[in-house]
Amino acid sequence: MNQKEIMFAGPDKTLLRYIQEAGIDWMHACGGKGRCTTCKMRVLEGAGHLGPRSAAEVKYFAAGKLRKDERLACQCRAVGDVVAEVPLDSQLPHLKYSQDKE
Ligand code: FES
Repeated sequence: MNQKEIMFAGPDKTLLRYIQEAGIDWMHACGGKGRCTTCKMRVLEGAGHLGPRSAAEVKYFAAGKLRKDERLACQCRAVGDVVAEVPLDSQLPHLKYSQDKE
């Protein structure tokens, strides 16, 4: 298992910003501008703690590039606990993920 827990102080920053400040390597090809979808995460618990989809997320969802349970870490902010995993196509090749087979 390679699970990480991040403590955040509120919705003033995106989840990507909190992830980066925690020193966790996370794909973000467009630099957090909502232009690529590489920062996507699959929300396992706490979807109700995330704000509504941003315009970029709505666009990518309509285009089929985001699943119903996926959000862009650079676009969403949380007001409570969220449990998420990195989908296979957004995983960095040099990291081991908790959903990897042992
Ligand atoms: S980093 Fe590109 S969409 Fe989030």
